[in-house]
Parts: sequence; structure tokens; C-alpha cells
Amino acid sequence: MRLDILTLFPGIFSSFLAESILARAIKKGLLEIGLIDIRSFAPGPHRVTDDRPYGGGSGMVMKAEPVCRALESVVRVSEKSLVILLTPQGQTFNQSVAWKLAQLDQLILICGRYEGVDERIREGWVDLELSIGDYVLSGGELGAMVIVDAVSRLIPGVLGGEGSNLEDSFQDGLLEYPQYTRPRVFEGMEVPSVLLSGDHEKIRRWRRTQSLKRTLERRPDLVEKAELSDEDKAILAELKARE
Ligand SMILES: C[S@@+](CC[C@H](N)C(=O)[O-])C[C@H]1O[C@@H](n2cnc3c(N)ncnc32)[C@H](O)[C@@H]1O
Repeated sequence: MRLDILTLFPGIFSSFLAESILARAIKKGLLEIGLIDIRSFAPGPHRVTDDRPYGGGSGMVMKAEPVCRALESVVRVSEKSLVILLTPQGQTFNQSVAWKLAQLDQLILICGRYEGVDERIREGWVDLELSIGDYVLSGGELGAMVIVDAVSRLIPGVLGGEGSNLEDSFQDGLLEYPQYTRPRVFEGMEVPSVLLSGDHEKIRRWRRTQSLKRTLERRPDLVEKAELSDEDKAILAELKARE
């Protein structure tokens, strides 16, 4: 997959892309990243990228022209490419959006700053507006990183163990079961004995029960929307009877 990020602050991405899973994916050629400095597309000796808002008011607005020229500089690798604007006013990004984006060949992410980008960019060039939550950040760069990270780990080959993302929280609409590693006893707290039993069927059922229990306690809204098997429904009925 190719990811092109349009930003006024490309330096923010250096360590993010140089470490761990993303760095390995880039090295393996599974991810190609383009960092496009919007400022280099601003005309004039001072390369001005922002201006005062029409109608008055506080703050500055990102000018349309440099963003538009930066977008035009991005080579489209296929028809399956999408221009995304990071904005608190967009659709909330979640795991199911991440899966949809992971099926594409190219994402072009526009990071806003100041009071945001001139509205005409949204009207004329943007396919999708995404927010990473109901709060206001100073810039779209953190949002772009969240999307790049969440989408990349769904691309085959990016994570070491294939399928290790399939049991993560939200994959089947539920939160993941609790995880333990060595030592068996830590500060007097023991790992649940079923996990040491070697009985795969018992472990599977324990994990499913924990996943349902945890989701019911923390995110009952997810349980209501999840596609549950007959076994899940029976486990839930047991859990509710115990309450
Ligand atoms: C200070 S914000 C602008 C907020 C804008 N004036 C508003 O009220 O909708 C500057 C930039 O940060 C980014 N941003 C802020 N909050 C965000 C969020 N929750 N999700 C995604 N991007 C966000 C956007 O790119 C935005 O253009």
C-alpha cells in the first residue's frame, strides 16, 4: 500500500516511521510512504501557507493553493486511491473503517493546521473526512499517524504472526480477552490455571467467556451490535444470571 501524507510539518513523522512494525513494513516493501511538505508548494519567497479568515474572526486558515498543488503532485498508483482530510468534523475513525481502507492501494492524507483548510479543498478534492475522536488537536498529523498505524497492521505480512490481528479487540465486535505471560506467579498473583492446562478447547472457551464478560462490563453497546453465535448467547445468559 502507498500512503502519501500532506503536512506542513513532515519532521513530526521521522521517528514514527523509523521504528518497529512500520519501519520493518517499509523495509520489506509492504508500505511505501510519501511525505509531502505543503510549504514547498506555496508560491513566493516567503512560502506563505495560511491567511486570515474571510468574514473575520480569530486564527488563520490554510490557503487552498498550496494544498491543491501538493495534491496534484501525488502520483495516483491506481483507481483504488482515496483522498482523506483529517478533521474533527469527519466520520469517526474505527476498526471497521480501518479494514475498508486497508483494501485500497493508496491513501492520501491531508493534515490540517490552524483553523483548518480552506473549505474549497474539502468540496473539490476530498473523498473522505475522518476524525480520530471528539476533541480538537492542533494538527492532523497525530490523526494521520493513528490511521497509518491502524491500517498498516491489517495489511498481510505487516505483523509477524499472520492472523494475530484477527483476535484483537473490535475485530469481531468484542473486546479481547486478558493476556498473561511469564512468570506464572507475579507479586503473589497467579496466571489463571486454565491457561496452563494445555487443553485447547477449554482455553478457547475461557477466552471467549472473558471476552464477552469484559465487553459486557465495559462496552455493553458493542455486545448489542455484535454478531453472536449460539455458544456466545449461552455464555452471555450464564454471565447475566451470575450478576
Ligand atoms: C485546531 S484544528 C481545527 C479545528 C477547526 N477549527 C474546527 O473547529 O473544526 C487544526 C487541524 O487539526 C486536525 N484535527 C484536529 N482535531 C482532529 C480530530 N479530532 N481528528 C482529526 N483531525 C483533527 C485537523 O486537520 C484540523 O484541520
